Amino acid sequence: MGGILTRQVEGSAEAGQWASGNQIERDLILTDADFSRIRELIYQRAGIVLAEHKREMVYSRLAKRLRHHGMTHFAAYLSRLERQPDAKEWEAFTNALTTNLTAFFREAHHFPLLADHVRAKQEPVKIWCAAASTGEEPCSLAMTLLETLGPRAEQARITATDIDTDALSKARAGIYPQEQVRKLDEVRVKRFFQKGAGRHEGLARVRPEVSALIEYMPLNLLAPQWPVKGPFDAIFCRNIMIYFDKTTQAKILERFAPLMKPDGLLFAGHSENFSYISDAFKLRGQTVYTLAKK
Ligand SMILES: C[S@@+](CC[C@H](N)C(=O)[O-])C[C@H]1O[C@@H](n2cnc3c(N)ncnc32)[C@H](O)[C@@H]1O
Repeated sequence: MGGILTRQVEGSAEAGQWASGNQIERDLILTDADFSRIRELIYQRAGIVLAEHKREMVYSRLAKRLRHHGMTHFAAYLSRLERQPDAKEWEAFTNALTTNLTAFFREAHHFPLLADHVRAKQEPVKIWCAAASTGEEPCSLAMTLLETLGPRAEQARITATDIDTDALSKARAGIYPQEQVRKLDEVRVKRFFQKGAGRHEGLARVRPEVSALIEYMPLNLLAPQWPVKGPFDAIFCRNIMIYFDKTTQAKILERFAPLMKPDGLLFAGHSENFSYISDAFKLRGQTVYTLAKK
């Protein structure tokens, strides 16, 4: 990180020149006021409640945006954003502040449940993966459908959405480090991935039969309109609600309900519990929900 000075100043003489001692000195200065403003803006834009301890992350990710624009003050950058509600920079600001942590077959117990749910379906299966990040989750869904439905999977549709357009670009490319892919079952690796060679050494690409089932598109779960069309056999909305407050979670759950088939399943993340947030869904098993009223 080209010559950036990183130094925590606590109660030192230098700290006095800033608004509070709780700041990090670098080549740029992120004040408490800047941080509060960033938290408010990302909350309004994406519903994300940024925890107090995310200050370091916010600094390092947004400092890149400031440098990109040749700016030296967070306040000026934020004012520019606020003045231009439609600026392209909003996308970069949002992309910078999302957490994209994901993995193939994360929370593995969900996939056999999905397989059982779709096995006997006569109509083409429709799934929405509502926080698809860099694509590992929708690819795991596609692999599950191919394993379960055989040639019938070709009619299935997985709509994979995310607010983060950089994550979606990676998802569309479908290229992953081989060490990440190696963690999968060997049979799956052979069947669903192509090993990179030459300048793609160390990488693996998901095979076209997997990608063919997935349609990627940007979608902000807070947006008044969602460009997705139900009804879905399953909605995967895992490890995103945890970043939203309860009111936002409740609104999203109320909007999921009419997009589900009567027997549809809603899959949540391991630390997400929707039972006390909305009465549209009832718990069916470990972090899996069905419609309360069919
Ligand atoms: C931690 S990842 C979870 C990925 C995947 N669902 C999983 O469980 O492995 C959370 C994802 O939610 C996305 N996200 C954050 N705010 C969002 C919003 N308002 N609308 C849609 N997606 C959002 C982030 O960009 C990120 O890719």
